[in-house]
Amino acid sequence: MTGRTKRQSTVPLAYRTAAGQMFVGKTEEALQQPPLTHWRGKVQLLFTSPPFPLVREKKYGNLQGEAFARWLAGYANLFTDYLTPDGSIVIELGNGWVQGQPTMSTASLKAFLAFQKAADLHLCQEFICYNPARLPTPAEWVTVRRVRVKDSFTRVWWMSPTPHPKADNRRVLTAYSDSMRKLLQKGSYTGGKRPSEHHIGPRSFLQNNGGAIPPNVLVPPGADQLELQSVLSIANTASNNAYNRLCRDRQLKKHPAVMPELLVEFFIQFLTEPGDLVLDPFAGSNTTGAVAERLGRRWLSVEADAEYAAASQVRFEKKAA
Ligand SMILES: C[S@@+](CC[C@H](N)C(=O)[O-])C[C@H]1O[C@@H](n2cnc3c(N)ncnc32)[C@H](O)[C@@H]1O
Repeated sequence: MTGRTKRQSTVPLAYRTAAGQMFVGKTEEALQQPPLTHWRGKVQLLFTSPPFPLVREKKYGNLQGEAFARWLAGYANLFTDYLTPDGSIVIELGNGWVQGQPTMSTASLKAFLAFQKAADLHLCQEFICYNPARLPTPAEWVTVRRVRVKDSFTRVWWMSPTPHPKADNRRVLTAYSDSMRKLLQKGSYTGGKRPSEHHIGPRSFLQNNGGAIPPNVLVPPGADQLELQSVLSIANTASNNAYNRLCRDRQLKKHPAVMPELLVEFFIQFLTEPGDLVLDPFAGSNTTGAVAERLGRRWLSVEADAEYAAASQVRFEKKAA
């Protein structure tokens, strides 16, 4: 022994809060170094929205086509190693277009398939997240030549190493519709065979379960109001608005692709319980960490861009909540 110990490098920390830590670095490096390696096998939900294969590049850069699929699949085993035995990976991927023509890229579908295969994951369920605030792009095809319609959803893939990950839809019930409320009050309805050939028992729908089981199409509340102004305010929740305002006031580098809080909230409630650990390896403005903390979960986030990571701390200020 020489008496000199080799110092292990650690991942730089942008900040910590009561329930989580934001690290700065490339996720492929950060997740292979302490202190993050300490949490291998302990993450109940890895929720992330990686850079999409967009034709128009965001400031933080993004790959396209086969290169994107290979890039994403390269993370599959690294991410899966972080999960508890009944943990889940949820990845949001937007649609992309082929450069210069009005056809859609299949890159994100290929990327999902490559990712799922690389770590032998089960596809637990696919979700569609409807975002009414999406702009009518690509403008050339949608608003100029008028040969395509607005692309207004992203796909969300829920995967797990087990076919039976921890999940409970009773944590994400939605309000009953007016007709269901009336039916519960009345206490009766016409049972029997429906045109779909389903047989509806005379009492099957008379139990009040405290809310309706949500569908796998996630729609912000109020999205049926088509007026643009109201739609924009639905898609951005109060704390996302506070993040925008505080970044602007303090001239911090604001993230260009903040996801709706509703999306993260749904999966955190559905797939974790208070005290569980949530990881976002492409954290951006740290929507995931902020929502996890608000819901009483612990969180870890990794973001390559030190300025985005630092700016996201404003989400945890009391007045931003
Ligand atoms: C789509 S954004 C995530 C936005 C985030 N969900 C939010 O609500 O703010 C993807 C983020 O991944 C980051 N990123 C790209 N490559 C990365 C890498 N190898 N390691 C860590 N972060 C990376 C980008 O800087 C970008 O902020």
